[in-house]
Amino acid sequence: MTNHPIIIPQADPSRRIERFRAEIDEAISQVISSSHYILGTAVETFEEDFANYLGVKNCIGVASGTDALALSLRGLGITTGDEVITTALTFSATAQAILHCGATPLFVDVNPISLCIDPADIEAEITKKTKAIVPVHLFGQPADMKRVMEIASQNGLVVVEDCAQAHGASIAGRKVGSFGDASAFSFYPTKNLGGIGDSGAIMTNDDELATRLRRLRNYGMSNDNRISITIGFNSRIDELQAAILSVLLRHLDDGNRERCQLADEYRRELSGLDLVLPPSSCGAVYHQFVISCKNRDRLSYQLQHQEGIITAVHYNPALHLHSAFKGTTVKSLPRTEYLTERLLSLPIQPEITFGKIKMISESIAKLTG
Ligand SMILES: Cc1ncc(COP(=O)(O)O)c(C=O)c1O
Repeated sequence: MTNHPIIIPQADPSRRIERFRAEIDEAISQVISSSHYILGTAVETFEEDFANYLGVKNCIGVASGTDALALSLRGLGITTGDEVITTALTFSATAQAILHCGATPLFVDVNPISLCIDPADIEAEITKKTKAIVPVHLFGQPADMKRVMEIASQNGLVVVEDCAQAHGASIAGRKVGSFGDASAFSFYPTKNLGGIGDSGAIMTNDDELATRLRRLRNYGMSNDNRISITIGFNSRIDELQAAILSVLLRHLDDGNRERCQLADEYRRELSGLDLVLPPSSCGAVYHQFVISCKNRDRLSYQLQHQEGIITAVHYNPALHLHSAFKGTTVKSLPRTEYLTERLLSLPIQPEITFGKIKMISESIAKLTG
C-alpha cells in the first residue's frame, strides 16, 4: 500500500477564510473593540442581511444547524408521540433534532435523481401521528418543495426545511428556506456559507414563531427582562461568528457561481464514463458534487492512495440503520440503500482550480476505464 501525500483534500475551508482574510480580520477586530460579545449589533446585522438575502421576514441566529432544526420543530409544537417524516439519506443531525423534541423520525425513500425526499413516498406514509415533514436539500440540490408544501397543507402538517447544505439554492428563482413554516441553516465551516466554528440560523415568515424562537434560544427569556417565560436553552449565535458570516455572505453568490462552473467542468470531463453524474438543474448550489458508481469503495481507496485525491462517502449507512434510530419504524428503503453503496463526493469548493478538476477527472477515468 502506498501512502500518497494528499494533493487535493475533499474540502479545505481554511482556503476560503484565507481568501477573504483581510475583511474577516477587520470584522473580528470590530467585535473585539465593541466589547459587546453576545447578542449585539453583529448578530442583528447578520440576521437582517441573511433574512433579506433569502427573502424571508425573520432570521434567528442559533448555536448550530442541529439546534436550528430542533428549536424550529419545538417552536412549531412538535413533541413526544409525534411522527416527523424525513429522509434517511442525510447527516445524522436531521433525525437527531427530531429525537431531541421527543418525536420519532419516519424515514421515507428518496427521488433517485435529486436524491432528496420523494413526495410520493411521503403521501404513502402519513398516519394520524404525523405532524411534520423535514425535507433536506441534499448536496445543494433543491427538494420538490411545491409538492411537499401541497401535501403538508392537504394533511395539516408543518414543514421545516433542512437547508444546511443549500445556502442560496433556489427553485424557479425563489430561494430554498423560504417555502416551509420554518427552515434551518448550518454554518459549519465546510458549508457554502460556513464560519470559523459552529453556528446556525432559523428562518421564518411567522412573526409569532420568531418571537418564541428568540426566547427558546435564550433560556426562555423575553428580550426586555430576564424572566424565563418558558423552558429554553443557551443556543445563541456568537457575535464573532455573526460578524464573520456577514463578510462571507457578501461572497456567497460568487462562490455558488464558481461551484456551478466547477460542476459543469466535471460534467464535461467525466461524460462518457460509467458513472451517474448529478443533474444539471438550475438552482442547485453543489455543496457536494456527488457521483454514483460501481465499486465505489475501491475507487475512493485508489483515488486516495494512488492519486492523493481525498473523496468522501455521504452517507453510509443510511440513518434507519444507525443504532440511535433503532426505535423508529424500520422499513426497507431500496433506493436509499442502493445509493448508499454507490455515492461518492468529489472535491468541489470554489477555491479549487479547473486544472485540479481535470486532474481528478483524469484519475477517475484511468481507475474506472
Ligand atoms: C443536512 C444537514 N442537516 C443538519 C446538519 C447539522 O448542522 P450542524 O453541524 O451545524 O449542527 C448538517 C451538517 O452539519 C447537515 O449536513
